[in-house]
Amino acid sequence: MNDNSRGQFKDMRIIKIGGSIITDKNRFQACDIANIRKIGSALSKVKNPFIIVHGTGGFGKIPALKYRYVDGEVRPGLVPCARIKAGVLKLHSVLISEFSRKGLDVVGFRADSMAEVSGSLIKKMRKDFLIKWLRMGFIPVVCGDMVCDEKKGLSICSSDRVAAHLAALFKAKELIFLTDVDGIFDEKGRVFAEISKKELGKFVQRLPKSPMDVSGGMRGKIEALLPYIHCSFVVRIINGLKKESLESLFKGVSRGTLIRGKRIRDEG
Ligand SMILES: Nc1ncnc2c1ncn2[C@@H]1O[C@H](COP(=O)(O)OP(=O)(O)O)[C@@H](O)[C@H]1O
Ligand SMILES: [Mg+2]
Repeated sequence: MNDNSRGQFKDMRIIKIGGSIITDKNRFQACDIANIRKIGSALSKVKNPFIIVHGTGGFGKIPALKYRYVDGEVRPGLVPCARIKAGVLKLHSVLISEFSRKGLDVVGFRADSMAEVSGSLIKKMRKDFLIKWLRMGFIPVVCGDMVCDEKKGLSICSSDRVAAHLAALFKAKELIFLTDVDGIFDEKGRVFAEISKKELGKFVQRLPKSPMDVSGGMRGKIEALLPYIHCSFVVRIINGLKKESLESLFKGVSRGTLIRGKRIRDEG
């Protein structure tokens, strides 16, 4: 694999798979096997190097609502953490085995043993672990999780944050969010073709808060990007439920919303 001594891989991509496209986000522990396989097929055609990050969908959202930690701060005595983490691990395992059946040499990692978190912000990540596996030609798959938090005790480390942090850490070329909509919508439901990184801080205020989603839905995704706005990676938000959008992963035709260093303009 082509990297320098500090583990910077040329043309690295971080591909974040939204929990909403690999599970039924409104049901407890229901994987969407058919779509997991479609994503696996598309990923098997993507040129290395890349790192996969995945969300937890209904495996994470439903317990967060039931045990009332949608704000991301978990009180261990009141929440069956082991059981919830075991559920997330189940989803993670399904993804690993389905992707490996598509010929992807994947290796799984979880945020609880990879990230040092303080006040929900990732301070450090075990990049060294990932580099070793990448150099051997493996594709790391990292899962968002409940993690130890220096300030909060136990908190939710969203996969959006993990993905943004990895994109910065690896000086990625691109961070791609595969989600269940065509991109970021404006007030009239039209997809923004492009949003400027410079204006992202102001722009995020216009997005609705998602009080029912521990990772904050689309707004949470954008908020996760804000600490890394100075980094050079380009962000693409595309629909991971649509064949043509998945094909854009290896065909390179850009779809959805692009976030980079230019002015905001909307489509159509
Ligand atoms: N302005 C917006 N543009 C697009 N989606 C939005 C917007 N505001 C809220 N959303 C919601 O965000 C959801 C995507 O976030 P989320 O459910 O967290 O997906 P993922 O599983 O990919 O993280 C969409 O299904 C949509 O309901
Ligand atoms: Mg989400």
